[in-house]
Amino acid sequence: MQSTIDSLSPSPTLRIDELSPEERAVYATLKPERLPRHVAIIMDGNGRWASRRSLKRFVGHQQGAKTVQQVTETASRIGLPWLTLYAFSLENNLRRPRAEVSFLMRLLKTYLESNVERMRANNIRFRCIGRTHELAPDVQEKMRWVEETTAENTGTTLTLALNYGGRSELVDAFRGLVVELKQKHLGPEHITEEDIHRHLYTAHMPDPDLLIRTSGEQRISNFLLWQIAYTEIFVTERYWPDFSGVHLLEAIANFQCRERRYGAIGEDGGEVEEDPDRIRIAVS
Ligand code: FPP
Repeated sequence: MQSTIDSLSPSPTLRIDELSPEERAVYATLKPERLPRHVAIIMDGNGRWASRRSLKRFVGHQQGAKTVQQVTETASRIGLPWLTLYAFSLENNLRRPRAEVSFLMRLLKTYLESNVERMRANNIRFRCIGRTHELAPDVQEKMRWVEETTAENTGTTLTLALNYGGRSELVDAFRGLVVELKQKHLGPEHITEEDIHRHLYTAHMPDPDLLIRTSGEQRISNFLLWQIAYTEIFVTERYWPDFSGVHLLEAIANFQCRERRYGAIGEDGGEVEEDPDRIRIAVS
């Protein structure tokens, strides 16, 4: 698992001098040796941001697209290797009015066209995950163009989850794994966690250390279900169009105060009995 990740790992350089004064003030409170390697974000609240201002929903999405670029650039300046954004879910595609879906697709194309130069200037590598083959051919073409144009960049990898669902990712992974097992004449008892990892869309990335959700909802919404097993979750009430690089840094500061245990005992877990067999178990 490790070798697949490391061979493709970005190696961003720090560009702290390019942070805004507010960002630099928060960055100064961070421990650089404890920066997350991978931050994932559920960008939510574009619609509510707009309706609070008596604006149409599409204005919220437009503002949200600007936030995507700003937050990505801050991530690249602090040397974050992986940033994954939930931009369009399978459920969005199926359940939103056609006019909104078609607006989001046009917005995505415009975003890609107008930001490819900034991605180059910021050494950002662009990738997509999801059932992207189901999107319109012109959108796919634009995505492939930006992926190819930025492929050699070595800074932050920005991954957009598009037409993405965590359960359908698992279905796709299991389908791929069954084919592989058949080819190798192996039975299901040979399946390991690493095999499943290898067949995920995210096989080339480490799992997210931190998952941020904007707009206050306390849900995962079918995002990276396998990958977030031990991810720290940070929910902010702020709507996505109001989120910024400063808020990303604040979320990272909060993350750095957490103790990650991965199922083990914490640092102040108390004394461990040397001979557990001596403990009387009373069940009443
Ligand atoms: C949630 O807002 C957000 C989305 C539907 C996906 C995110 C889309 C963007 C940030 C804009 C486009 C992005 C790119 C990369 C071009 P919502 O409509 O669910 O908000 P609501 O819950 O307040 O209605």
